Order: sequence, then C-alpha cells, then structure tokens
Amino acid sequence: MRLSLSSFSSILLLSLAACGGSHDAAAPVASGSDSAAASSPSVPSITKTVTLSLAAQVGQKMFFDKSLSGSGKMACATCHDPAFAYGPPNNLAVQLGGPKLDQMGNRAVPSLRYKDITPPYADLLDNPDGFSAPGPGGGFTADGRVNTLAEQAKIPLLDPVEMANTSGADVVKKLQAAAYADLFVQAFGKDAFADSNAAFDNATKALQAFQMEDTSFHPYSSKFDLYAANKIGGDMTASEMRGLHIFSDPNVGNCSSCHYQGAGLNGSSALFTDFSYEAIGVPRNTSIPLNQDPAYFDEGVCGPLRTDHKPKSATEANTFCGMFKTPTLRNIATRNVFFHNGVITSLEQAIRFYNTRDTMPELWYPNVGGTPLKTNDASFPTYGLIKTQYKGGTVQKYNDFPALYASNIDTQVPLDGRAVGSKPPMTDQNISDLICFLGTLTDGYKPGQANSTGKCAE
Ligand code: HEC
Ligand code: HEC
Repeated sequence: MRLSLSSFSSILLLSLAACGGSHDAAAPVASGSDSAAASSPSVPSITKTVTLSLAAQVGQKMFFDKSLSGSGKMACATCHDPAFAYGPPNNLAVQLGGPKLDQMGNRAVPSLRYKDITPPYADLLDNPDGFSAPGPGGGFTADGRVNTLAEQAKIPLLDPVEMANTSGADVVKKLQAAAYADLFVQAFGKDAFADSNAAFDNATKALQAFQMEDTSFHPYSSKFDLYAANKIGGDMTASEMRGLHIFSDPNVGNCSSCHYQGAGLNGSSALFTDFSYEAIGVPRNTSIPLNQDPAYFDEGVCGPLRTDHKPKSATEANTFCGMFKTPTLRNIATRNVFFHNGVITSLEQAIRFYNTRDTMPELWYPNVGGTPLKTNDASFPTYGLIKTQYKGGTVQKYNDFPALYASNIDTQVPLDGRAVGSKPPMTDQNISDLICFLGTLTDGYKPGQANSTGKCAE
C-alpha cells in the first residue's frame, strides 16, 4: 500500500524537478516551466553507439530469429516489436502463438523498454519514493515470478501457446542450425553446444545481454527526458505541463504515487513505476480462453501462473491475490491494449477507468438481474466497456476477483472508493491534459515534433 497524504504534495512536485538524476531540486516545476527556457534545449545523448558484447550480439540475432519457435514463424520481436517500443504491434488483447499460431495467450504483451533497472522481486521491497511503506515489488512479468531477464526468456521459448519449443534442448538444436551458430561458439567457447542445458542457459543469457546492453531498450529520448534534463520546461506545452501536475497531484490524478516519476534507481532518470504490485480491480476479459472457465481467476502474485504465494485454502485471506505489477508508463501512447489482460483499448479509456471505477462502476463491470434500457439516457457515457444502460440489478464490481480478496483493493486516489454517483477526481479537461502529458513519454522525440495524442499545443 502507498501513502497518499496531501502533505506529500510538495515533495512529489519537488521530486519531479529532480528528474534528470541530478538533485538540485530548488525550483518547483510550476515556476520553472517557462522563465528559463531561453537557453536552447539539447536532446539527451541517445544516439551514442555502444559496442555489443559477443553474447549480446548472439542475443540480438536470437531476438529476431523466427526459426527458434515451434511454428518457425514467431520470434521474440513478433510480440515485442521494436517499432512499438518492444510492445505488441497490433490491437489484440493477447497474441496468437503455439505450433500453428492459433493458440491465444493469457496476458497482454508488455513493452520491454526500461526493464534493465528492475530490482529482484521481494515481498517487502523498499519504495523508491523514500517514504511509502515497503511492499511487494520488483521482478519480471505481471506477477514477478522471475528475477532475471535470462530466466524470463525461458517462459516464451517453452510456452506451448507462445514460441512452443518442446524443451531447452529443442531450442539449442535450432540454434546449432542457425547462421550465427559460429558466433554462439565465439561467445560461449568451443564446447558451447556440448551440454544442451548449459547451452540453453547461455542462450537465455545472450537474450538478457542484448536487452541490457542495446540502448534501443532504454533510449531515454522522450520529450519528457528533454524536459527533465533541462529542468526548465524543455519545450513542454501548457497542456502537457498541466497534465504533469494532474499526474502528480495527490488529490487529482495521483498517478505518481505508483507510477513514480522521480529519479529512479542507480541515478537513472524517472522510470514511471515504483515496481510495486497493487490490486486495482481491472475488469475481467472474457475473450481470454482461460477465462471461459468461471472458476478461473488470474490473481497475479498469488497465482495460478505464479506458484509460491498461492492461498493455502479456498477460504484463506491472502493479501497477494489480485496484485499485478505497476508497469512503466514510458511509451504508453504507443500501445493499443492496456493492463495485464488487455481488456482496455485506449489510453483515454484507461484513464476513464481510474476516474469512474467507483463513481460509475456500471460502465466497467457487468450488470446481473437488471433490465437493459432500449435507449440509454443521453447522459450515459459511451467510453466504458459496458455500452448498455440497465435499470435495477446488481453491478458485479471487481468481477475478475473472488469477493474474498476484496479488501486487497488499493484505496488511493483516484481509486479511493468514493460513492457511486459522486464527483470523480478528474474533469474532462484534466483527462485530456493528462493524456497530453503521457504523450511526452514516447521515445524518439525530435524538438518541435507534435504530440501524437492529439491537441496538446495549447
Ligand atoms: C507470443 C507472444 C510473445 C513472444 C513471442 C514473446 N513474448 Fe515476452 N511476453 C509476452 C507476454 C504475454 C508477457 C507477459 C507475461 C506475464 O505477465 O506473465 C511477456 C513478458 C516478457 C518480459 C517481462 C517484461 C516485464 O514487464 O516484466 C520479458 C523480459 C520478455 N517477455 C522477453 C521476451 C523474449 C526475450 C522473448 C523471446 C525469447 C519473448 N519475450 C517472446 C509475450 C511474448
Ligand atoms: C494504486 C497504484 C496506482 C495508481 C494510483 C495508478 N496506477 Fe496505473 N497501474 C497500476 C497497476 C498495479 C497497474 C497494472 C494493473 C493490471 O495490469 O491489472 C497499472 C496500469 C496502468 C496502465 C496500463 C499500462 C499498460 O502497459 O498496460 C495505465 C495506462 C496506467 N496505469 C495509467 C495510470 C494513470 C494515468 C494514473 C493516474 C490517473 C494511474 N495509472 C494511477 C497502479 C496504479
């Protein structure tokens, strides 16, 4: 759980000013936005070329090699497309994989950018903001079930609904037949293929080395990075700056309390995650095959994909249930599907969910027992998941979550449990400003370039 006392407001704003990794956070953001902007902004050094180690060169070849799959048609890059910040190139909630590329996956594909500074999973991880209580945090995948990028790579290579190799030895055999088999031997020694277990481990270390070393995985080349490096507003527009304040205002967006944007670990620039796990009650995605079984729930840290925090019995109150990793919001405007199950299909819809999950739950969760109206009231919003208005009945709030675990739901603004029908924390203007700010987190920004999310010039 994270604290969100309003007295921390000024700390949050100050920490924003410290975002470049330097700590001379003398001026709060608001007063620094325009006045000193005269000095010409320089783009942070993003184009510096690094020479990849031999292992990373192998990893680079592997990452794009479709022959390393049961279908022969799927590489890491098929799901983690560099043109989409190493996230999914399409609008599918989950991807199709397996030997015939006809098996639906279980979770939405995350971006692989900015994973290099992820701490190992801990039940009580210190929060990078320096004042929140420690809690579950760190690790890879949406439930933190692996601690290194190398371990992680084994999951898709062997998953029958993803790359669908039958074993590590199966992958190694394909590697031996690859055009870069010699490079593998150069990287890992003349006996590199002698023991298939060792060779499989090295293959996953190669994938890890590529992701750690290649700057395309952590370019820090967004408009926000330019702003953070200059500490004077860069060329952030007024709407982008308003959005930044919504993002960090503990009484309005409060996004920063989990998507922490202060200086990151190891002096890195803001990572837009505090690596924490939270239960926010994302609606069930009934299009995922596993969810056809009404008794199946993807409960994040407490399983079933992760196995070391499972409830001991069906009635045990387990505080890890329903928790998913807070993902980075860097490059969020390049995505088409959102949250661990991809049920939300636009950035605006994601923010609307935060804003009205409690005040208008009927927009997000199904109604049981009510009568559908022939025509919705004119005031019934169309941005939710549920497009039909009901009279009577019960809204199944948190429908992807056994009721036993309801107390695990985080209670911070904007998801603070405010009453149905009451005023949501953000206005429409706040929401469009927030989207503009999130648009500044897309890498590859060139000074003067328009914000991809829409009308953000004013
Ligand atoms: C069929 C699509 C698909 C393919 C192919 C694929 N992945 Fe993934 N990847 C996913 C999904 C889905 C997740 C989220 C898994 C979860 O949360 O349990 C993921 C998660 C990850 C993560 C964790 C990111 C995080 O935020 O913690 C890494 C790292 C990763 N994949 C690397 C790879 C590598 C390396 C390959 C190639 C060996 C690969 N992936 C191939 C779909 C894919
Ligand atoms: C209580 C902590 C918390 C707060 C506050 C919070 N988030 Fe999140 N956010 C999360 C978690 C946890 C997830 C992943 C949930 C899941 O997948 O089930 C998430 C996921 C997201 C995603 C989807 C990311 C992706 O890659 O699919 C977006 C977009 C997002 N948050 C935006 C925001 C914005 C904007 C705000 C402020 C209005 C905000 N969040 C406030 C914890 C939080």
